[in-house]
Amino acid sequence: MTIMFQPSDLNQKLSRQGSIRQKIDYLQKRLELAELTLNNIYNGALVTDENGIVIMFNEPYGRFLGVNPADQIGRHVTEVVENTRMHIVARTGEAEVNQTQHIQGQDMVVQRIPIKKDGRVIAVFGQVMFKNVRDLGSLAKRLSLLESKVRVYEEELTTLRSTKYTMDSIHGRSDTIRSLKKQALKAARTNLPVLITGESGTGKELFAQAIHHSSKRRTKPFIRLNCSAIPKDLFESELFGYERGAFTGARSEGKPGKFDLVEGGTIFLDEVGDLPLEMQPKLLRVIEEREFERIGGTRIIKADFRLISATNQNLQEMISARTYRKDLFYRLSVIPLNVTPLRERRDDILPLAEAILDDISDHTPGRRFRLTQGAENILLGHNWPGNGRELHNILEQAVATTESEIIDEDDLPIYLTGRTVAVSATTGDRLLKDILAQAEKDALRQTLAQTRNNKTKAARLLGLHRTLLYKKLKKHGLHDPADNGAS
Ligand SMILES: Nc1ncnc2c1ncn2[C@@H]1O[C@H](COP(=O)(O)OP(=O)(O)OP(=O)(O)O)[C@@H](O)[C@H]1O
Ligand SMILES: [Mg+2]
Repeated sequence: MTIMFQPSDLNQKLSRQGSIRQKIDYLQKRLELAELTLNNIYNGALVTDENGIVIMFNEPYGRFLGVNPADQIGRHVTEVVENTRMHIVARTGEAEVNQTQHIQGQDMVVQRIPIKKDGRVIAVFGQVMFKNVRDLGSLAKRLSLLESKVRVYEEELTTLRSTKYTMDSIHGRSDTIRSLKKQALKAARTNLPVLITGESGTGKELFAQAIHHSSKRRTKPFIRLNCSAIPKDLFESELFGYERGAFTGARSEGKPGKFDLVEGGTIFLDEVGDLPLEMQPKLLRVIEEREFERIGGTRIIKADFRLISATNQNLQEMISARTYRKDLFYRLSVIPLNVTPLRERRDDILPLAEAILDDISDHTPGRRFRLTQGAENILLGHNWPGNGRELHNILEQAVATTESEIIDEDDLPIYLTGRTVAVSATTGDRLLKDILAQAEKDALRQTLAQTRNNKTKAARLLGLHRTLLYKKLKKHGLHDPADNGAS
């Protein structure tokens, strides 16, 4: 590095203090160190005075420009470096950081920093990053590669996230189901909250997904939160996320909540009747204000979402019992959609059964399942407490038991066909024990089908303790050996 200094100034200063020899030694060492430092950095560096005259110029920069550093001292910077703005920074006093400058046919990353004393610019330090520029070049390439990968993944994620069910997945030809689908389509054209109610298995989630899919938000995420599956104290962080270090046990990097992840899509609050009372005002606030704060956060975050909720509980009754907030209920149910139980739209039973069998057949190469007249009659005669889900489960079981493609009465569960009754009618006292056992087994099967194999729900429905339910399942060979009783 070559540094220009005024020997007269130096002598004046040195003569005023201590031993001149000592001072000169000291200053020489400092200059040498400064010179070595600037010459050993991987960047081109130069310093101008406040008028743009070059007063320092390092060796790497000289090598890069193919000039002798010493010859540049005392020249105006515009004569030394093309497209320079050092003299402008000397005037404005404003630093220019990480700008690009075209030098020797390349775009370089440069910094120009004004050096001030008593508020006045006395020099400007400039540096050109070349080694790093090459790195930056490859970094930029890698970055753009990564960016395009991210785009691909984003598209894939949208496809994966996009809902499985559309309006066409909702089967049935009854006037009721047609009218429900019409209402759902109408709701999809708005941005208003929809509350879907109906018994278990009637297809509430199907409707929620179909509404999202038919709405303008279809390419955005569909984020489902099952309110019955989340422990009370985790609700807030599930919905709103938390900042790093928000509480002990929190992941150190923080966690996004559903309202972060929704990014313009739909939030589906399933089993919304199970939303804890203390969470209700918080949910109400985000619905009304369209903004939220993360736990431990200080920032208010805007949220763009559409809300769909579903429940098989009677929220009106819960309001009377003061376990549900009226204001939240009104917010959630701007558009109410009540899905009628299957037994009240019997015209749907066979079309639904056929559609489900078609769907199963599509996944079973070489086999197309169909029902015999007898089997159809049995399905038509049943009351369907578990609605469409029960029908789905029964047909899946039937397909698994039948050896052919034809499903007849024998392939349907005993509790549907009433075969137990027939047996019991022809048996004497000796078999009463067996008859009762069979009835018990059927009841267990039916309830499990109804609850989608959820043992806790099944135990509740049957009025049994879970442990006893497990014992009974084992007794009847209905237990899953891999099941440890956790569900
Ligand atoms: N109209 C329908 N068309 C097609 N499939 C249906 C229909 N109704 C119910 N199903 C079947 O029932 C299953 C359960 O539906 P879904 O999960 O939407 O019920 P749900 O109303 O949310 O029940 P729960 O209250 O128990 O959560 C679906 O996966 C589907 O197989
Ligand atoms: Mg559901």
